[in-house]
Amino acid sequence: MEKILFINSCYNYEKSRTLYLANKIFEKFDIDSNFDFEEIKIKDLHLLPLSEERIKTRFNLANKHLFDMDMLTYSKKILSSDIVVIAAPFYDYSYPSILKLFIENISVPNLMYNYSKDGYEGYARGRKFIYISTRGANLPDSEDFGFLSLDRMFTLFGFKETQLIGFGGTDFYEDPYKEIDKYVETLKNPF
Ligand SMILES: Cc1cc2nc3c(=O)[nH]c(=O)nc-3n(C[C@H](O)[C@H](O)[C@H](O)COP(=O)(O)O)c2cc1C
Repeated sequence: MEKILFINSCYNYEKSRTLYLANKIFEKFDIDSNFDFEEIKIKDLHLLPLSEERIKTRFNLANKHLFDMDMLTYSKKILSSDIVVIAAPFYDYSYPSILKLFIENISVPNLMYNYSKDGYEGYARGRKFIYISTRGANLPDSEDFGFLSLDRMFTLFGFKETQLIGFGGTDFYEDPYKEIDKYVETLKNPF
């Protein structure tokens, strides 16, 4: 059975429109029956930004190919997943800083990727990266600069295909959940 790693980068789980969208998609395509599913809740990880000291330690270890630091558990989970799904709300034309901290912590050279004469070589075996997001304003997917950066990162890690499933207008519609339901009805299976 293929493995889906779900990186939940939402806050306020009861009300989050982004998490609502993600869960509706999981339900519609019966993820529980079709995949081995694992969730990481980023807000519970209480991540810290890299510091001068931590960058130094990490580069020293990475140069020796020693990858036993705690945070690298998550790098390894990404490397061994068939599909990675991230759900994150649209913040300031990008995504929340907790997600940036997560990426900063897991993206380790020699473990996730390496430089090659053609640019990069990624070490992930995953076939797809899917990004799910909702935007307050009625903006098109092309305005989601957060996705552009994640698209490049997951391609760099070695994922073969990427897809954005974005819904704009949550702060505009009277009942955004109802609008999200209608939107999900139009979606083809992304998995
Ligand atoms: C800190 C913050 C920054 C935001 N920045 C933007 C923005 O730049 N453009 C926009 O259209 N909506 C913005 N929004 C609105 C959210 O994208 C929108 O409400 C989204 O649906 C929230 O998802 P959630 O319900 O899953 O938290 C912002 C909201 C917050 C809290």
